[in-house]
Amino acid sequence: MEKIIVRGGRKLQGEVDISVAKNAVLPIIVATILNPTEIILRKVPMLEDVTVLINLLRELNCEVKFSPITGDLKINTSNLKEIEGNNELIRKMRASFLVMGPMLARFGRCKISMPGGCNIGSRPVDLHLKGFKALGIDSEIGYGYVEAKIKNLHGNRIYLDFPSVGATENIMMTSVFAPGVTIIENAAEEPEIWDLARFLNSMGAKIEGAGYGRITIHGVSELKQPEPFTPIFDRIEAGTFMVAAGITNSKITINGVNEEHLMPTIEKLKECGVYCKMDGEKMIVDGTGEKRPVDIKTMPYPGFPTDMQAQMMALLSITKGASVITETVFENRFMHVGELGRMGANIKIDGRVAIVEGVNNLTGCQVKATDLRAGAAMILAGLVANGQTEIGEIYHIDRGYTNIEDKFRKLGAEIYRTYR
Ligand code: UD1
Repeated sequence: MEKIIVRGGRKLQGEVDISVAKNAVLPIIVATILNPTEIILRKVPMLEDVTVLINLLRELNCEVKFSPITGDLKINTSNLKEIEGNNELIRKMRASFLVMGPMLARFGRCKISMPGGCNIGSRPVDLHLKGFKALGIDSEIGYGYVEAKIKNLHGNRIYLDFPSVGATENIMMTSVFAPGVTIIENAAEEPEIWDLARFLNSMGAKIEGAGYGRITIHGVSELKQPEPFTPIFDRIEAGTFMVAAGITNSKITINGVNEEHLMPTIEKLKECGVYCKMDGEKMIVDGTGEKRPVDIKTMPYPGFPTDMQAQMMALLSITKGASVITETVFENRFMHVGELGRMGANIKIDGRVAIVEGVNNLTGCQVKATDLRAGAAMILAGLVANGQTEIGEIYHIDRGYTNIEDKFRKLGAEIYRTYR
């Protein structure tokens, strides 16, 4: 069984390069289904979730060439065939539900297994289906699958009860060809939504307002071959390294950062005593100062990202004083609390609220990555813990971080992977 071993106590120094964002690249790969021509994506990171999508497209007869060294991903979905039955790859990953919209656009119907992904809550798909219905698509949920059929595709005004990232993306992709105008109200505002629209528009789609709460899509009849496209940098990976500087009392440089996308994390870290300064696309993070406890409430963007909650909890678990963390996006995203507790953290949960009472130090032991970002939190805790931390179930980490142990080792951490 693969494990990541971290020996705590080292300061970090030097520079780390951030990869392209997992949450940007996954919907963009899926969006290639809309356009049967050769499409080149640049700097695509070698992530388990990317591999799952590539394998799915190959299984569906698409031509996919990936060079892990350059990160060039060439996709041609001209020979795409319909998904049949209970697809194992779809069940593996939540983001794969995004194929529904583009598949409907290509075949007028689609039947897929209910998606999987991190076990952080029930993660229903009702908002996706509500959007489909408004666009003239009927759907039905059966035992373990969702089936949808286009009845009368047309633009419409869709109000999302919650600004779901996946639903916004799925509806945006589906309405690219919907005759008339589609308006998504209370749309998710995450930078990855803006990036997906940038990609779709580069193929000739007509989308305005993506990245804000109201997105307008004018239906087009066809798409053209786009120029090679490079998605945005990963704000969550950057945020993870920013917290690493804080937790190890270090000063590091992070290359490939969009300051605006990271504003909620930058501001919270500043409140906590970790200071970030931009120098072009580089960010200098000074975590050498004294830390203060902070209160955090996760929210849809531009609120504090739920994908940074576990990492911040690791930092606050050794920050003197009491911090309160409220998780409002997912109902089951505190599984790392038990693992941090094994390392000596003092955290109590009451529903969606965690009260973190900072301790003087953590102690290395055997823990597991209970989900993707929880796994990152275990590495961060391990960097500062006394002794050795052994992290199991690291396939969660590999879903969203490229060469994480290499990147930390380059910064001076004592971290490696074992295969037994
Ligand atoms: C995406 C991100 C994930 C991030 C999350 C919130 C990708 C591949 N993943 O996930 O990393 O943590 O946004 O920023 O981009 N919901 C419903 N009904 C729906 C859809 C969602 O109730 O039809 C609920 C979910 O259960 C959850 C909340 O809305 O409680 C947020 O989910 P959503 O924004 O859709 O997240 P994902 O797109 O799954």
